[in-house]
This record gives sequence, C-alpha cells and structure tokens, in this order.
Amino acid sequence: MPNILLVGNGAREHVMAETLIRSRHQPRIFSFMKANNPGIASLSAAVLLGLYSDLPAVVAFAQKNRIDFAVIGPEDPLSQGVVDALAQIGIPAVGPNKSLARLETSKAFTRNLVKKYNIPGNPRFEVFTRPDGIGAFLDELDGVVLKPDGLTGGKGVLVQGDHFETRQDALDLCARIIQDSGCVIVEEKFDGEEFSLQCLCDGKAVVGTPLVQDHKRRFDGDRGPNTGGMGSYSLPDHLMPFLKPSDIEEGIEITRQVAAALWKETGSPYKGVMYGGFIATKTGAKLLEYNARFGDPEAMNILPLLKTDFVDVCRHILDGTLETLKIEFDHKATVCKYVVPKGYGLPADHPDAASSRAKIAVGDVGTARLYYSSVDQKEDGLYLSSSRAIGIVGIANTLDAARIIADEGVRAVKGPVAYRSDIGTDALIRKRVDHMKRIRGY
Ligand code: GLY
Repeated sequence: MPNILLVGNGAREHVMAETLIRSRHQPRIFSFMKANNPGIASLSAAVLLGLYSDLPAVVAFAQKNRIDFAVIGPEDPLSQGVVDALAQIGIPAVGPNKSLARLETSKAFTRNLVKKYNIPGNPRFEVFTRPDGIGAFLDELDGVVLKPDGLTGGKGVLVQGDHFETRQDALDLCARIIQDSGCVIVEEKFDGEEFSLQCLCDGKAVVGTPLVQDHKRRFDGDRGPNTGGMGSYSLPDHLMPFLKPSDIEEGIEITRQVAAALWKETGSPYKGVMYGGFIATKTGAKLLEYNARFGDPEAMNILPLLKTDFVDVCRHILDGTLETLKIEFDHKATVCKYVVPKGYGLPADHPDAASSRAKIAVGDVGTARLYYSSVDQKEDGLYLSSSRAIGIVGIANTLDAARIIADEGVRAVKGPVAYRSDIGTDALIRKRVDHMKRIRGY
C-alpha cells in the first residue's frame, strides 16, 4: 500500500488520482492542492491546501504522511522546484527537477538544446533580448510565430495571420514581449495540423501513448482567442486520421533524442512525461513546444484507457526500467469537452465576463466521466472560477458514440457555462484531413 503524494488541483490531476486509485497496489493518495478540487479530495486519504511556491509546506506534508513517491501534475510546482525539494528528503518524484523542467519553462532553452544536439524538428528561429536584428530576421521568413520565453498557460504564443498581420505588428509585439519578459523567440511559422504526443520517460526509454488532438480556440470552428484547451479527442487505433506513420515515428524519435540530450546537458535523467506539441507538415513532423507534464485536457483522453497499472508505470519510471514494462491502452475512442465559464478567455469588459465565480449545479452526466478542474466547493455548493471548470469525457467504440456521451454529460452542467459543440465531429476532422491533403499535394 504505497503512500503517494499528488501535487495539483485540476482535471488532469483528478484523472491522475482516479487512475492511481484503481491500482492493484491499493495506494493511499495525499493531495497538495492550491484550491479544493472536490473530485481529488474524494479520492484522497488527506488533503493540504497551499501555494505551490510553499516548498516547506509540501515537504512537511510529504514527511508527515510517509510518502513513498510523488506524482506532480502541473508545470507551476515543477517550475518552483518541488521535485528538487522532495529529492532532498529522499522522496522520488514522477516529474522533472527544476533544471529539466526548463523543457517547458524556457522555450529558448529547448530550441537551443534541439539545435545544439542536431536533433531534427526545429523551425528556423532566433532568440532576441534586444530589438536589434529582428527586422532583418523577419525579412528572411514567410510567416512568423512570436513566443515569450516563460510559462504562459498556453496563451502567450502569437501567430502571424491569426493574432497579428504585418511586419510592423511583429516588430511592435517583439518589443513588448522583450520589455515584459526579457526575450522573444521568433520562429518560422509552419503550415499543418497539430497533434499531442505524450511520452512517458524514465531518462532513457521513451514510450508513446495514444495520440490526441486538442482544440485551443475558444469557439466552434477554431475561432476566437487561444485558451488552455477547450477539449480533445483520440481514436480507437491511437492514431490521428491526418497523420502518416512517419510523422509519429519522427515525433517519438525527436523525443528520444531530446531525452538523451537533456541527460547530457543537465547530468540528470528526465523522469516523467514529455508532452510534445507537434505539427505535421509537408516535410514531416516538426516540434512546436514541449511540456514537462501530461496535457490538460489530453490526460483525460489517455489515462482512462490505461490498462497497465499506473502505480507500476510510475515505479518503472522512477527505477529507470520502463522498457521492461508492457504499457497498454484500451482501443476505444474518447472525446473530452471542457465546460467553461461563459466569459472564459474573453476580455474583462465583455458582458459574459461576469459568469466567473457564479454558482453551478451538476446533474446526471450519464455514462460520461466527470473531472473537476477550477471549481470551488463551498458549503452551499459548487462555484466557477475564471478558468476551465469541468472536463467531461465520453468513451466508446466509435468517435461518434464517444462524442454523444460527452455532449449528454456537458448538458448536465447548469449555470452560466459554455463548451465547444464541434469537438469530435466528422465535419471538423474532415476539415483537418482535407487541410493535410492540400498541404501534401494529394
Ligand atoms: N493542452 C494544452 C496543455 O496542456 O498545455
């Protein structure tokens, strides 16, 4: 009966808790959360609320509960060095230490690492700490993407054609990003379709999990502002219909080489999840960015399908023996839809912005799975925050059936909420397949 520390309070950590708790090892889960997630709390032997920057509080909670190992959900505690703090008291963690977590916390670090070790997948890019030279680099590229260096919750990336148009716009935005965050990464823009490849890594071995496609835009038809992710789907064959087998092999191989480079560069093995945001292009898979954790919502697509005992998976990651474990997933389709406050992602002066902090009621979600995210369980009921509230997941033999289950589930959430109705529909997937056909020229 291992005692496991789970750090995090979102829907991703709710599904992680659920996956841990169904282990044959009968673990006890001790959860350190920054807000009270009722789903995680209901699965936990004990809960402590606190800030992820309060490392002494995490360490004391772990010591008090005789934790065998920790599993870290979000990027925030990773960037605070929670894994390093736990290591100092002899508690291993599934999740990278602060230096390795630069894979996500510094986009410049990762681009430079991939370049230094001659790993394929990078776009043409330059990192600028001053405006000098940006104009000349812009002139060399057809379209650009601008990124601040640090964590942005998936909302900091600015794409030409989507978020700005002209060369002058790009220069102005670069100046602003440098002023705000110290540097800007200017990258060549790729044309293609994105996919999430979440890999388990014990430092050396890299094991891919079923592919997922997330939907970042707030509104149906991929319109509106970027969000942390409005929902996602996966298919029974664990592939994406717009990908070639070589795209996936390239994504895995890039991740393998990056894991090896990280070990060489930092002297420590990466133990945790390397979630590559890739884009399939005419010339193969290219790397958009890495995250040092499971995706949110993507974790809700893959973890319910995991047939292998998750505690065994964690132990093999920690022991560096992942390649000796057969990791299997059910061959089912999944559709995850995030229920969000109506005002989520909209400017503060938008009439719907007031929907944040409102009370909601959750009725019968039928056969859908429900994972709480940013909600606050108070004595008189459940309240929204300003962020994504509840992930609802349909699982079935076909994508259509999974989507219908998810749709029934989201309709059971009553209050000033919204969700995307088009995730997992044939029409949206056909659009992506046709887009890739056009790009590849057949
Ligand atoms: N799905 C986006 C993220 O987890 O960052």
